[in-house]
Amino acid sequence: MPQKKRVGILTGGGDCPGLNAVIRAVVRKGVVNYGLEMVGIYEGWKGILEINTTSLTLRDVSGILHRGGTILKTSRTNPFKVDDGFQRIERNIQELGINSLIAVGGEDTLGVANKLFEKGIDVVGVPKTIDNDLSGTDYTFGFDTAINITTEAIDRLHTTAESHNRVMVIEVMGRHTGWIAVEAGIAGGADIILIPERPIDINAVIKSIRKRHERGKDFSIVVVAEGAKFMKKANEEGTLILQDQKTDEFGHVRLGGIANLVAKEIEKGTGYETRVVILGHVQRGGSPTAFDRVLGTRYGIAAVDLVARKEFGKMVSLQGNRVVPTSLEEAVKEPKLVDPELYDIAEVFFG
Ligand code: F6P
Repeated sequence: MPQKKRVGILTGGGDCPGLNAVIRAVVRKGVVNYGLEMVGIYEGWKGILEINTTSLTLRDVSGILHRGGTILKTSRTNPFKVDDGFQRIERNIQELGINSLIAVGGEDTLGVANKLFEKGIDVVGVPKTIDNDLSGTDYTFGFDTAINITTEAIDRLHTTAESHNRVMVIEVMGRHTGWIAVEAGIAGGADIILIPERPIDINAVIKSIRKRHERGKDFSIVVVAEGAKFMKKANEEGTLILQDQKTDEFGHVRLGGIANLVAKEIEKGTGYETRVVILGHVQRGGSPTAFDRVLGTRYGIAAVDLVARKEFGKMVSLQGNRVVPTSLEEAVKEPKLVDPELYDIAEVFFG
């Protein structure tokens, strides 16, 4: 009897709701329709470097669709930052008898996947991140859940801000881009939205809040993405606000705290009491929305289809309403910035 093909699957980078939906779909279609043997790799690329894997059967992926996080765990390990990293990956893939890999991740994990593909390893990618900042796809899974959690938080902060006549500054995730801030901000009726794509003009923010209060509104909701920066001079951006100077293996610093500075300036400039809420990891936790369960499932099915067709070096993507393959290389080149037309829509409701 010919040996079954073995396909490895890993989840890397920040976790996000919908990862288990992808794993379940990949395993289900891989085992049932293609007769593949599925290997779960723990903690992203770390699991290949350290040979920490498990076989994934239909039973293992049953009952996980609605669960947040990832049953395979995750890490921010970059094999290209480890001694002999690539050689170890290549050797261990052989030792594990893995024929091809499905990497589920954002810019970092898929950046590694693309480099491995260029070096001859058969990989396909699945776009994951609550930030929605991957090029080549209209949506990454996890984003919808994050904006729903954030919208609910804004709604809750609205009522307390209104009762106390306060300005609330809500900090959301978004390292390079302001997708969460803009979409949850529009949905939650934010009065100001500050994003990495547009340096913060604090005087304009103060003016806008004052104007709003002068026309009879006693409270304001400001949403700021963690990666937003103050404008130093006209069109010159300031520095990022960090929680920690240390960088991870992909060179990322730990962001957080811009809301505190924005709030301080608003209170100083307007005299209105201003409070801060930093939403943090609550945006990434818990059950995926129906949209993310369906998108994750569609992506998982499409990824295993690509493996079966031997179409490697591709990422599955959502374009319009269709899930189609796209170039992994193109997807990881540049982040997908917030569409200026979407920001224009948000701006209509500022002040
Ligand atoms: O990339 C997703 C993300 O949630 C970013 O928005 C955020 O900056 C980062 O991950 C935080 O990562 P960690 O949980 O590793 O600190």
